[in-house]
Amino acid sequence: MPLAPLHHDPLSRFRARLSLPLIAAPMFLVSGVELVVAACRNGVIGAFPTVNCRTPEQLDAWLGEIETRLHRREDAEGKPAAPVCPNLIVHRSNTRLDNDLAVLLRYKPELVITSVGSPAPVLGPLHDAGALVFADVASIRHAERALEAGADGLVLLSAGAGGQTGWLNPFAFVRAVRAFFDGPLVLAGGISDGHALRAAQALSCDLAYMGTRFIATRESMADERYKAMLVQSSADDILLTSAFTGLQTNMLKPSIVAAGLDPDNLPAHGAIEIGRDIDVENRQKRWRDIWSAGHATSGVTDVLPVDELIARTLAEYRTSQSRDFRA
Ligand SMILES: Cc1cc2nc3c(=O)[nH]c(=O)nc-3n(C[C@H](O)[C@H](O)[C@H](O)COP(=O)(O)O)c2cc1C
Repeated sequence: MPLAPLHHDPLSRFRARLSLPLIAAPMFLVSGVELVVAACRNGVIGAFPTVNCRTPEQLDAWLGEIETRLHRREDAEGKPAAPVCPNLIVHRSNTRLDNDLAVLLRYKPELVITSVGSPAPVLGPLHDAGALVFADVASIRHAERALEAGADGLVLLSAGAGGQTGWLNPFAFVRAVRAFFDGPLVLAGGISDGHALRAAQALSCDLAYMGTRFIATRESMADERYKAMLVQSSADDILLTSAFTGLQTNMLKPSIVAAGLDPDNLPAHGAIEIGRDIDVENRQKRWRDIWSAGHATSGVTDVLPVDELIARTLAEYRTSQSRDFRA
């Protein structure tokens, strides 16, 4: 595919509202109203999977509450909040997709991220409502296909990411996609501080995800034992396995042990799956006690309020900038 010239900067519509080129990544059972509001108030795009709401009605209530709280209080500098970014699971097993989409369209989100499948079915209505749509992809082939379908940007899931992960090396992945796409790229996987965030920019990414690092924040919905386990664990404690979800997923080994399973002798491919569909009750059973995290676990050293984490990340980002080599 030829390199498409970038005639305009799609991010210009909200760039001035960002304190960092960062998205608090969407995480099942982790990202809720508190995390999203705190991220957006502090100039970081706040993402959440719509399936974290039990019903489309609850999604309506969440979006209403987020909107009210973000409009009621601007951040300390008087800057309007960063965008709220709902995440749609577009896999065919998500029987709620159409209903969730209908709710999103009423709220006119600025940015939507699609995962686990082609964005094609939701692109038309979301574009008509004025949203930018980024698709998450884990291979060069899928990147090409998402762009052919009309995605405005891509989230590149690289090796070591929390949740259902990618496998490509981030250096190779970003540069390979940049060879044919000049639009917004978001790097996902292993980023836990401002130094790594700068590295993503140096690679030519416009934005980056931090997922695992945001689990250990006061505002995340994660169980306190999950947050404590992240603080105590390192990248060596992450196991890449498809035993739980059927897809390659990075999991916290100590949580597998605590559930009475042997991480070295897990059954193959999805065997421990309790339900194949995206039904929240079923998925909750297998995500509630066995926890996912990525290589960024080594960067989780404490549980912080979101505003402090973002302030620290910004300080690291500036330190990293000051170390730039100047000939
Ligand atoms: C517990 C957990 C749940 C996740 N759930 C989702 C999800 O529902 N939708 C999605 O697009 N990505 C999901 N992800 C992936 C994250 O959005 C993101 O790609 C990943 O965390 C980035 O890597 P990092 O954890 O190394 O920062 C999840 C990740 C984790 C750790």
